[in-house]
Amino acid sequence: MAYINEEEINKIRMEADIVDIISDYLPLQQKGKNFVALCPFHNDHSPSLVVSRDRQIFNCFTCRTGGNVFAFVMKYENVSFLEAISIVARKIGYNLQFDPTKNMGPLKREYEIYNLALKFYLNNLNTTEAKEAKEYLISRGITEEIIEEFKIGLALKEKDTLYQLLTSKKYTLDEIEKLGLVNKAGENVFDTFENRIMIPISNNSGQVVAFTGRIYHGEDAAKYVNTKETSIFKKSHILFNYANAKKYIREKKEVVIVEGNMDAIMLAAKGIKNVVALMGVAISQDQITELQKLHARIILMLDNDNAGTDATIDLGEKLVKSNLDVRIVRLSGAKDPDEYIRKFGVTAMEDALKHGTSYLDFKLNYLKSDKDLQKIPDVVKYIKEVLASLSGYDKLTKEMIITQLSENYHIDKGVLKENLKEDTAKKIEVDVPKEVVRKTKYELATNKILYAMMLDSRYIRIYKEKLGYFKNKIERIIAQEIVYYNNTNNGINIADFLSYASSLSDEVSSKIMDIVSQNNTEEVPIQEFNNCLDVILSELKKDEIKDLKQQLRKTIDVNEKMEILGKIANIKKEV
Ligand code: UTP
Ligand code: MN
Repeated sequence: MAYINEEEINKIRMEADIVDIISDYLPLQQKGKNFVALCPFHNDHSPSLVVSRDRQIFNCFTCRTGGNVFAFVMKYENVSFLEAISIVARKIGYNLQFDPTKNMGPLKREYEIYNLALKFYLNNLNTTEAKEAKEYLISRGITEEIIEEFKIGLALKEKDTLYQLLTSKKYTLDEIEKLGLVNKAGENVFDTFENRIMIPISNNSGQVVAFTGRIYHGEDAAKYVNTKETSIFKKSHILFNYANAKKYIREKKEVVIVEGNMDAIMLAAKGIKNVVALMGVAISQDQITELQKLHARIILMLDNDNAGTDATIDLGEKLVKSNLDVRIVRLSGAKDPDEYIRKFGVTAMEDALKHGTSYLDFKLNYLKSDKDLQKIPDVVKYIKEVLASLSGYDKLTKEMIITQLSENYHIDKGVLKENLKEDTAKKIEVDVPKEVVRKTKYELATNKILYAMMLDSRYIRIYKEKLGYFKNKIERIIAQEIVYYNNTNNGINIADFLSYASSLSDEVSSKIMDIVSQNNTEEVPIQEFNNCLDVILSELKKDEIKDLKQQLRKTIDVNEKMEILGKIANIKKEV
């Protein structure tokens, strides 16, 4: 553990009761010794998440997510192990010497530079040269409060440059240039942003990693200039306003997606805080993955132009195919959400958001737009496109659409069904990720043994006496780690062992989490443990017999053959 020592981690873990911490995020209900809640990590319908106060671990028996308090915060807040520790520390009022969310190891300098740039631009907005920029902001409804909330700043031209400031603080031209804040032109160096309103862009943990700068007078330059891709800014990984919106998205179980930063800022400022912006009309796989983790319904509200309509189809398709629940809102009377809310007010916007259509409805309508449905070839084309769009939808939806088509266009339902393409696309919305590959008896027994060893050093002793190793490498490593942990700490405690596990290789630590989540939080009775040992031992014997039989086939010597047969008979007697 590079930045916080293990002792400190364990201390925080011990002082932070997992039931209290999880209660900050979810309503927990007591059930016997344990607490239960709807699991936030899958689409849960009845409480599957179990939190054990005794063990200080949580577990979802449906989606198989589990671990200690840090694992919960990591998953829920989508942060690193170190960040999770600092979040938990903050919650319990523990004073961490080293706060990884403020100061992140090897990336420290990059973030420092961006924090300085942020302050620099903020400061510019408070100078006399900011008059015109301020007027512009006011003219589009951006108040002082909004400026403060979104840390909006200003890049000027005829003034001290950011370049001067940063080099005076001993940062090198090379690193500032790599971070996209200045450009070189021969001998000369210019700030990347000049005469622009500066909007900071934060990564998903809330750290400023880039800017987008808007012109505020004249029309001759590009409307927006964005920071280029750098070591800390990958546009396709980021949704604008995500770090601020995360909490509200979880609460409402809904996320509003808009195109422009200004749209997101205006919605959030007016109280619709569960909003993120794409910064354009494209969506990347990384952004989709980020959205999937939120387990929220998506409200796609792009600009009111043709590009927005086409993008709604393009993005809607991608999101629906990623098993997300997508609603579409198309605005009218304004070109984008920002203008809409300023023109018609927040109530009208809330109303529009409530009355989105399903993606399928939107698409069926969209398919009509380039056709004249009085003409037979267009009707045929339309029906073919509708049937093709149904791939992936459930039977009932298909039946309803087909009935509708049949009635509207007087076509036999049977004929429509014949034309329905067999599903090649993935099934829509499965409750639980379907990776649940059936485990063999051997694997189940191995997992149970390793789990029991994490709970109780008595089981570690029995394991050492009766078994001592596993035949598969990863399980062997885990057993060794448990034994090692138990020796060096004079005992074992599952919640602390799981913190230790986070420092092991990804493969090992994720397998450990897997094992924990496959077992409930209950004790493992000694009888069950012994049964599992028997499963493993008999498997080992079977392997031994297999090896001996192979030897038997290779041997020509009769005496040797007899000896091998004797060995086989002996092992079989034991099984
Ligand atoms: P829009 O043209 O819809 O911008 O582009 P907007 O949000 O309505 O901006 P305002 O209201 O005129 O200030 C949507 C998004 O596309 C990106 C920006 O992220 C913008 O928010 N964009 C647009 C650029 O990167 N560069 C541009 O020149 C234009
Ligand atoms: Mn706009």
